[in-house]
Amino acid sequence: MMIGNNIIRLVSVDSTNRFLKDTRRQYANGTVIFTNEQTGGRGRQQKKWLSLPGKSLTFSFLLSQSHDKMFFPFFHLFPAVAVVQCLQKCQVDAQIKWPNDIYVAGKKIGGLLVESISQAHRTDVLVGIGLNVLHETDDFPAELREHAGSIKSVARKIIDMEYLFQQLLLELNVVFTRFNKPEALSELRTVWSAACAHLNQNITIFQKSGRTTGRFIGLDENGFAVIETDGKKMTIQDYEFVSMRDEHDTRN
Ligand code: BTN
Repeated sequence: MMIGNNIIRLVSVDSTNRFLKDTRRQYANGTVIFTNEQTGGRGRQQKKWLSLPGKSLTFSFLLSQSHDKMFFPFFHLFPAVAVVQCLQKCQVDAQIKWPNDIYVAGKKIGGLLVESISQAHRTDVLVGIGLNVLHETDDFPAELREHAGSIKSVARKIIDMEYLFQQLLLELNVVFTRFNKPEALSELRTVWSAACAHLNQNITIFQKSGRTTGRFIGLDENGFAVIETDGKKMTIQDYEFVSMRDEHDTRN
């Protein structure tokens, strides 16, 4: 299996994750759905995701697996590690903000939406990646400008979209192959932590049930965040997570 052995290119689609979810049965494992324009892009927690033609890198890929549930964290962790390593090879100093946001110099330049559909004997995982590549500051709605940016607007690098796409596919395959075994999960968590923007920093996680402030000390074996408050360790599961603020963030 190779991610990107089969690439379907769409001129425009509402959401590559939605498209892949509905059509996945006709596609081989590793198929990539790429689009120039997304008209109804989705982010985590029912948020919208803005994709602009010619400026955003937008694609999703399919991974069908028969692994047991213990292996699920892998699918959430490896794509963000691949994105960060790819950008670092392009001299863009990117980092991960838990759970799956991609940041450069304190601004969000990308995000991942990982969804899974479980059946009796296999699980289909849909990994959606959205990167802001060539946006100008003005391309973002006013209310997003403070916290969102693109590789061009923040890192001042103009990277060709097709080049970035191909490099990212290569890196996804490298990281997938290296860590796609249960015994490599703990090393993947270590690599993820090294790429994390807020490891050992004080952060506040806002959940539906309230907020938790403490030191982010890494990931547990399920890939959940571990926060230390007053000497006590707390685990925050992804689906409880609403938003996060680190000590450099000035939002109220
Ligand atoms: C987030 O930051 O909340 C996640 C954003 C994920 C966006 C990508 S773009 C490709 C794929 N298709 C979608 O509708 N969403 C993901």
